[in-house]
Amino acid sequence: TQSTAQSIEDLTQNALQELSQIDNPDELEQWRVRILGRRGELTGILRGLAQLDLEERRQVGALGNQAKAALEEGLEKRGRDISEARLAQVADLERIDVTLPGRPVATGRLHPTTQVLREITDAFVAMGFSIVEGPEVEWDHYNFEMLNIPQGHPARDMWNTLWVDYVNEEGQRPMLLRTHTSPMQARVMESVQPPVRVIVPGKCYRYEATDATHEWHFYQVEGLAVDEGITFADLKGTLYEFARRLFGTERKVRFRCDYFPFVEPGVDMSIDCFSCEGGSGWIEIMGAGMVHPRVLAGVGYDPEKYTGFAFGLGPERIAMLKYGIDDIRHFYSNDLRFLRQF
Ligand code: PHE
Repeated sequence: TQSTAQSIEDLTQNALQELSQIDNPDELEQWRVRILGRRGELTGILRGLAQLDLEERRQVGALGNQAKAALEEGLEKRGRDISEARLAQVADLERIDVTLPGRPVATGRLHPTTQVLREITDAFVAMGFSIVEGPEVEWDHYNFEMLNIPQGHPARDMWNTLWVDYVNEEGQRPMLLRTHTSPMQARVMESVQPPVRVIVPGKCYRYEATDATHEWHFYQVEGLAVDEGITFADLKGTLYEFARRLFGTERKVRFRCDYFPFVEPGVDMSIDCFSCEGGSGWIEIMGAGMVHPRVLAGVGYDPEKYTGFAFGLGPERIAMLKYGIDDIRHFYSNDLRFLRQF
């Protein structure tokens, strides 16, 4: 009896001691089989009880059951501890701090036109304008008609147009690649009521021989503000502020009278540029003016009630001024030696 009780006691001590060293599920399972399994050590001792007499069997049996319960409890607790430790380890290794800012990846850079477009739109967004976009393939109707440039009007010659090869039932070719972003003036005014304050960045196309300041495709940013009581002073104030934001306070700005059929009066705006090609001292960056009453009436606005100003500027020209680029054809010739400078 004594010795059986002792071996149960020893076995329990040793087994629990071993258990406390185990730190992975495989070893834990081996331990279970060795101690508590059908052919395990404890099972072996308990089997030997059959040889004892009844009273002894009762005593030692009770001891054996206690030992078994203690070992099973120890096993279960160790199992829990091991899996908790593993979870904690995984959580630590795979922790993601979603508040960390992203790391820059060396995938390249933004095209200089894109960079300047963003600066331009930021400047106008800060002054309360919203950004909208429109189609590059446009109808004659929006590109010309709605802008007070009817068919056969000599002003059409101001825009050398790339016509789309589509003939309608009346035998006309009414589709073109937009020559400017101004068609969006009419599209916007047709869809909303004043007050209107939008800018429209986008690509334009012209059937044109290229030179240092002319490309056959280029970007424009159209601007339109319509409300009650808007005057030419608002136009100048807005465009001066724009020039200050892009070029700083030192560059000079010049307005001259100019003609566009959809504004009256019309102007163009130039920035001083004494190193520029031609040596005139100025480079023109946009056309602008007060929206023509006929354009307002055309979209159903009451020209007696509403006035507005519009402008259309050339981002590539602005990039040329900012970075001292001498030829607009650099922008889209995709020479990496050029592009890598920005
Ligand atoms: N759309 C004109 C052009 O491409 C520029 C312009 C826009 C002029 C708005 C006046 C008002 O030449």
